Formats: sequence, C-alpha cells, structure tokens
Amino acid sequence: MMKLPLFLLLISLVTQTSLSEVTISVTPTTLQKSGDIVTISWSNVDSPSKLDWLGLYSPPDSPHDHFIGYKFLSSSPSWKSGSGSISLPITNLRSNYSFRIFHWTESEINPKLHDHDHNPLPGTAHLLAESGVVVFEPGHGPEQIHLAYTDVEDEMRVMFVVGDGEERSVKWGERDGEWSRVSVARVVRYEREDMCDAPANGSIGWRDPGWIHDGVMKDLKKGVRYYYQVGSDSKGWSTTQSFVSRNGDSDETIAFLFGDMGTSTPYATFIRTQDESIATMKWILRDIEAIGDKHAFISHIGDISYARGYSWLWDHFFTQVEPVASKVPYHVCIGNHEYDWPLQPWKPDWAYAVYGTDGGGECGVPYSLKFNMPGNSSESTGTRAPATQKPLLFF
Ligand SMILES: [Fe+2]
Repeated sequence: MMKLPLFLLLISLVTQTSLSEVTISVTPTTLQKSGDIVTISWSNVDSPSKLDWLGLYSPPDSPHDHFIGYKFLSSSPSWKSGSGSISLPITNLRSNYSFRIFHWTESEINPKLHDHDHNPLPGTAHLLAESGVVVFEPGHGPEQIHLAYTDVEDEMRVMFVVGDGEERSVKWGERDGEWSRVSVARVVRYEREDMCDAPANGSIGWRDPGWIHDGVMKDLKKGVRYYYQVGSDSKGWSTTQSFVSRNGDSDETIAFLFGDMGTSTPYATFIRTQDESIATMKWILRDIEAIGDKHAFISHIGDISYARGYSWLWDHFFTQVEPVASKVPYHVCIGNHEYDWPLQPWKPDWAYAVYGTDGGGECGVPYSLKFNMPGNSSESTGTRAPATQKPLLFF
C-alpha cells in the first residue's frame, strides 16, 4: 500500500469530514411547470464565508464549472450560523436539476475567470455537498407558448416547446372546452452543430433546446375571443389560453412597441440578465387585461432575450413572456444580439467593428426557429444551419 505523507492524509481527512457533515436538501423534488418554486436548505457549514455559493446544475451530471447559475449562501439571513435556505423558481430545461454547495473565499478569486461585467466567476475547488435530483413531471403540457400573425388575416399562429418530437396539436373554439377545430403542429429543432461558435456551441453554453412546435389556427372570425389549448392526449395539454382575433374592420390599432428587453434570472450566471424586463412584462400584462376584448399586438424590435449563446436564457425568456405572448401575437425582428458574428453573411459595414461577436455564436439560428414571423426576409447561413432572418436592429 502506498504511504501518504501525513499532511496529505490530514487534508484528505478534513475534506472527507466536511463532505460528510454538510447537509443539503431540496423540496419538492418533483415539479410540474416552469416557475415552480424549490427550497434548498443546508446546515453544518463550518467557518462560513460570505462567498460560499449554491450552484444550479442541469443536467445534474454537469461539471462543477458548467452551472446554469449560482447564488451566494449569504443571501440567506442565517448564513453566518452555517445553516440556511434559498427558495427560487426553476425553469423547465427538459432535463433534471441538482444543486451543489461550494466553499469559496476572497483569497481564491481568480481574476482571469470573470463574467461579462468583470464579476469573478465562483471557484469550484471545495465541494461541500450535492443534492438529490429535481425532476419535472411529464404530462403537464407544452411550455413557452407564444402567438404570431401569419400572412393570412384570419389566422393565428401558436408556437410552443416540448421535450420530445412526438406529434402535438392546437385545438380551439369560441368557448373554453368546446374545441370546434384542431390542427396538427409542424415541428423543428436545431442542434449544437448549427451554432457557429462559442459559447453557443460549447459545453458551457449549449443545452438541448427541445422540440419547437408551430401550429396555425385558421378561419377565425374578426375581433372574436378564441380559446385554445396545445399538446396531445398522450403527453398532456396546456391549460386553456385565449386571444382576441384580428379585426380589419376596426379603426383602432393597439400595439406595444419596444426593443432590447432581455430576460431576468433568479440567480447570477455567466452574463448579465435584465431585471427591468420584469416590470416591462408586468405593465403590458396589466394593459392587456384592461383592454378586455380588443385586439392588440406586440412588436419587440430586436435584441430579444440576450441569451448570447447561453441556451437556457432563451427558456427563461419564453417562460417570462408567456403570460403576455399567449394572449397577444408577439412580433419580433432579429437584432445584433441574436445574429451578429464576424462570419455572418449580412451586416452593415459600420457594425463589424462595433458589434462583432454580439450573438455569442448563435448566428441567428435559435431566434429564427423559435419565432416564425410573416413575410420573407431569410438569409442563408451558408452552412447546414437553417436560414436566418436578416437583422433589422443594431443597438
Ligand atoms: Fe440592444
């Protein structure tokens, strides 16, 4: 047997002792939909540091530095006692989650490892505990529902995401539960190879995006509230959603126009997210509810999620806008933060030096498949990736 030097043996014993002592638990362990809350509790953290942190991992076997996001344990009021808890909503990434607790101190900050705002990324040298797995239960229907116009005035498109490529439909009618029509959705997806560069095609940024379904409700009357569900009998249906159809006879247009919204995450991650988006969606939802049975639409004129190659931020974005986008068509133009990369075939001359890598290697592919807008402004990517839409916004 190999003899260990005494100091190594001591380090080994100390590590094993702390591993066995720190406890972590998560509840509940089964979730139904994006936004469901989990509470992660820990105890027995010895000599707590204000930089000790909780990492979110999906899938659960991700390497330590491939977290989805992190929160400092010091956000829990009782952290100095070595025990505490953090509650946060979880977004369904069509894969399980686990949670890990790490010890990290200021002396261990590596100035070379930092996020886009130059905040240091947390160190992973001292794992204290890892939770069991949190699962999204199947059968609760599609997520990320969003509407859009088609090129035909009496139609409404509905898009949504699920974790498999099996057939899904949209069923609709003028009364909730009385589904007079049904239409099968077409399905698309994209692969890691369709991304043009890192972080989008790297193991830190890439996650499986699921299957994107695209159904069309046809022969709609003008200015009528329709109810709909998306899904399938075998895999579950969404809750009932509703919208008011277009009305070409109306002399009134109600539109919400904005750009550069982004999304907000309940944790820190590799890039900055946009907490302001919470208020934007909140006030638009209030207005949509206030206008009752009038038709309205959204125009988000580019720079949509600011995912920039970190795939799960798209899932956060569509979860965040669903309360609005499932009620009114959510129209978009592609922006530099979805499209831009030096190898892209289309760009304004002046944009090259300023916005060269703003798309994070996505090269417009996630955007172009997650939305399906009227009109035809596609631009071939010159690779196996699907054609993308030309950027209209550069800010
Ligand atoms: Fe922007």
